[in-house]
Amino acid sequence: DRTEDLRPRPPVVTVMGHVDHGKTSLLDALRHTDVAGREAGGITQHIGAYQVQLPSGSKITFIDTPGHAAFTEMRARGATVTDVVVLVVAADDGVMPQTVEAIRHAKAAKVPIIVAINKCDLPQAKAERVRNELLQHDLVVEDMGGEVLDVEVSAKTGKGLDRLEEAILLQAEILELKANPERPAEGTIVEAKLDKGRGPVGTVLIRRGTLRVGDIVVAGSEWGRVRALVNDRGQAVDEAGPATPVEVLGLTGVPLAGDDLAVVGTEARAREITEYRQRK
Ligand code: GTP
Ligand code: NA
Ligand code: MG
Repeated sequence: DRTEDLRPRPPVVTVMGHVDHGKTSLLDALRHTDVAGREAGGITQHIGAYQVQLPSGSKITFIDTPGHAAFTEMRARGATVTDVVVLVVAADDGVMPQTVEAIRHAKAAKVPIIVAINKCDLPQAKAERVRNELLQHDLVVEDMGGEVLDVEVSAKTGKGLDRLEEAILLQAEILELKANPERPAEGTIVEAKLDKGRGPVGTVLIRRGTLRVGDIVVAGSEWGRVRALVNDRGQAVDEAGPATPVEVLGLTGVPLAGDDLAVVGTEARAREITEYRQRK
């Protein structure tokens, strides 16, 4: 649509890889948070969506996915809302089953992959072995004559994190990511739950437009008037623009992860759409 007011937007980066290879720890190191330390059993069991603002002012939106074998569907979902996949491979463990599965999801979604070879602080780290194992799965890194960017990192010491951010921004630049922030919001529900105190809560990744408190939205077979928006740091915000993850409160029911969310003009229209969808 040539008449649309398209403006640069942050890249959406999904972090995937085998269980315990350090996906959440890497995001914690980038965000200066401690999500991994507060997880039950140290296992990610849901999709986390976060935004990092770099000293340069650039923003990157990250989606964290669980590496546990039981969460195949969440990884598949992560791959479809994303611009870039960061594949985390622990240098002491190498390519494992969920690494291979993540490569498959990224390739199926035609999403460029950046490899983060993590835990390079460990004495038993073998980054070269990881590059060779990736080659066996048709992922050819630059060193080996391919086009896939790879960065040796440590979530523990912070080594290589600046290079990882640079690689992501470089990849994002090539993709020329743009969205119109002025139109009514459209997004994807990345996860949803019934919260005891707050009622139905949907975490939405805005694709285009800007979502505002007071907007009437339809999300899958549910609808509602946005009562509050909460950002990834737990703060109430008035609005959320393209590539921003935000919790939406005020829905009448819990939508399904993967559902589309869209702003509609009136409550009557929202009811009409959701009644039709619920009948199907
Ligand atoms: P799942 O979400 O359960 O798949 O795990 P994950 O990939 O998010 O890994 P997580 O961040 O939970 O880290 C797993 C373990 O590896 C934890 O004990 C971390 O402290 C450790 N770890 C993560 N990154 C590094 C690193 O760079 N170096 C070292 N030595 N340990 C690390
Ligand atoms: Na873990
Ligand atoms: Mg994790």
